[in-house]
Amino acid sequence: MDQNGGQKYFKIRLASMHPNRKVAFDVFILINGRYVLYMRSGATFEGEKLEHFKSKRADVFFVKEEDRAAYKTYIRDRIGDDEHSPEEKALILKESSFSLVEELFENPKIDQALEESKSVISNFVDFIDAEPTAVANLIGLSSHDFYTYNHSLDVAVYSLGLALKAGYKNKNDLMEIGRGALFHDVGKRKVSVEIICKKGGLDDNEWAQMKRHPLYGLQILNEFQGIPDGVKACVFEHHENHIGNGYPQGLKGSEIHPMARIVALTDTYDALTTKRSYNDPMSPSDALTLMKEKLAGRFDPDLLKAMYSVLFKLK
Ligand SMILES: [Fe+2]
Ligand SMILES: [Fe+2]
Repeated sequence: MDQNGGQKYFKIRLASMHPNRKVAFDVFILINGRYVLYMRSGATFEGEKLEHFKSKRADVFFVKEEDRAAYKTYIRDRIGDDEHSPEEKALILKESSFSLVEELFENPKIDQALEESKSVISNFVDFIDAEPTAVANLIGLSSHDFYTYNHSLDVAVYSLGLALKAGYKNKNDLMEIGRGALFHDVGKRKVSVEIICKKGGLDDNEWAQMKRHPLYGLQILNEFQGIPDGVKACVFEHHENHIGNGYPQGLKGSEIHPMARIVALTDTYDALTTKRSYNDPMSPSDALTLMKEKLAGRFDPDLLKAMYSVLFKLK
């Protein structure tokens, strides 16, 4: 039975909250499946309370669905004010997006998730536009663990950084790349969880299933109107290789959509620099060296060069 009277809530992360600013929405905690009011609208998250929760590693709170707009305004104000350093703003932005991204993957209504992703990516593009050090600050926050949500958001951040270096300036293009990167693995929703979470190698059969995720992703997106071609290409072509030995189509070079070439590179880079159960994360320079040498031919060489400057020559 629903203990919560049909009321819907969404998750927020503690790090997105300001220690001494009034919140314009009620904040709840989840105890044994029940949402319990923790703080009323108009109260503040005092510094001590914040520290208390941080020390208990309890960093998730909930807000009523009907207050989503108020939460968004609260975050937008924090990112727009002069009170925070660019580092702090990057953290607030990322922390406020995690829960949205989590929903993108849990939400059974993909059309809603596709719509919601516009505001997530738009916030990132605006932040990058307003703060000269934004890309460096955001990259500094890469989570290096491999939950699909973190991976997707990190790939989106790297892809926006690389797209700017590659010369994309137009907001619509950046939105397309950002959303394509965020959704690149959406087809994994249709691959069984046992395969996704399996530690160690996959057998031939499992691997064949796994390799279908770009196609599954395209099929998911094709059910909806108005999804830009670039978004679809990032989903369908992010495992194609520059020399033509990728999957599912074996496209090569300029046959691969330029936006998908970006995501192909940042996806691999993130996977290499991320901790998974069976490997240690590589350092940024080791990862790029491996991509240039052992994985030579997989990536667009110009983009690979540009990725060096995204990571090492930002200041
Ligand atoms: Fe993938
Ligand atoms: Fe991926």
